[in-house]
Amino acid sequence: MNSGTSNTSNRKKEHLELCATNKVSFKTKTNGFENYEFKHYTITEVDLNKISFKYKFFGKKINFPFLISCMTGGTDEANNINAQLASVAENLRIPIGVGSQRQALENKNYLDSFKIIRKNAPGVPVLSNIGAAQVVQFKSIDPIKKIIEMVEADAFVIHTNPLQELLQDEGEIDFKGLLKKIKMIVNNLKIPVVVKEVGAGISYEAAKKLLDVGVKGIDVAGAGGTSWAGIEILRSKKSEDNYFWDWGLPAAFCIKDVYKLKKKYKFTLIGSGGIGTGLDAAKAFALGADIVASARPVLMNLNEGGNEQTEAFVKNIFNEVKQIMFLTGSKSLKELRNKKLIKKKLLT
Ligand SMILES: Cc1cc2nc3c(=O)[nH]c(=O)nc-3n(C[C@H](O)[C@H](O)[C@H](O)COP(=O)(O)O)c2cc1C
Repeated sequence: MNSGTSNTSNRKKEHLELCATNKVSFKTKTNGFENYEFKHYTITEVDLNKISFKYKFFGKKINFPFLISCMTGGTDEANNINAQLASVAENLRIPIGVGSQRQALENKNYLDSFKIIRKNAPGVPVLSNIGAAQVVQFKSIDPIKKIIEMVEADAFVIHTNPLQELLQDEGEIDFKGLLKKIKMIVNNLKIPVVVKEVGAGISYEAAKKLLDVGVKGIDVAGAGGTSWAGIEILRSKKSEDNYFWDWGLPAAFCIKDVYKLKKKYKFTLIGSGGIGTGLDAAKAFALGADIVASARPVLMNLNEGGNEQTEAFVKNIFNEVKQIMFLTGSKSLKELRNKKLIKKKLLT
């Protein structure tokens, strides 16, 4: 994902290899969606055929509010993965994020593994990406402009990953001045800035500070899906019996918490962290997400069944969301957001 200077490509390779296994989930923590159930509405009059998911994401029209989360770039394997993911994004007309472009600034060898995304996805929003650990080191806006141009990005994403950096042998944990740097970036870019986590979640308090400096998108990337602490623990070959493996705020909690800020701020709320089914996605929308995002579940589908299976995976999610909208009497995602969930403990 980031950090260190000499071995970024190897690290990326190891991340991809580990993410292709089932070892990198949270041990016991879940993303929290299972704590909710939809309120069945028996006199529904919703016409399934009239439900549309079309949405405008950072200025561009998309068919489904589903973002292929920032994943990879900067390894030989990434070329192929990004080429395929970008074709899926273009075919479905959905946005796609690029993996950390740090390496593209250090070394020209893998530039194409990033550029292929815009090449194969010319008509959809593409999100540029770099880590907070790099952001604090930049002395000017120039490297950021360079990576944005590289993929003709529609939005610029900064990933905050203090937990991952903390557990990574080569991690960088000096984030002094981060918020000020983010403010400088917001003020010097023409495109919106999004801040995302990588699986430990963004709280109300953190999101508020980010929105105060002008950030236009928050991707909560909550706990319960991929454990990046787990990945780094496995890479370091240390004992798996580590409290931090399951550290983080569950995705459902983050979406609900950050959504409260919609009363005061205008921003796009991206719900993510272990979203792999239509039921998860529907609950994320019902809790307040404008759009959902998914990383490892998308990669697993790509690994298993290529573009075709990956496209089917996304379409199935939205078929299921449609069915849930029908059964809850919701004509739109806005209506689904209106008191359609019940906390399970209240059902007895
Ligand atoms: C193989 C892989 C590589 C990733 N690399 C990046 C990255 O470079 N930058 C980033 O912001 N997030 C990266 N992530 C994190 C995801 O974007 C996402 O926030 C996180 O995995 C939680 O989502 P999930 O539970 O759907 O996997 C990566 C995820 C995966 C699976």
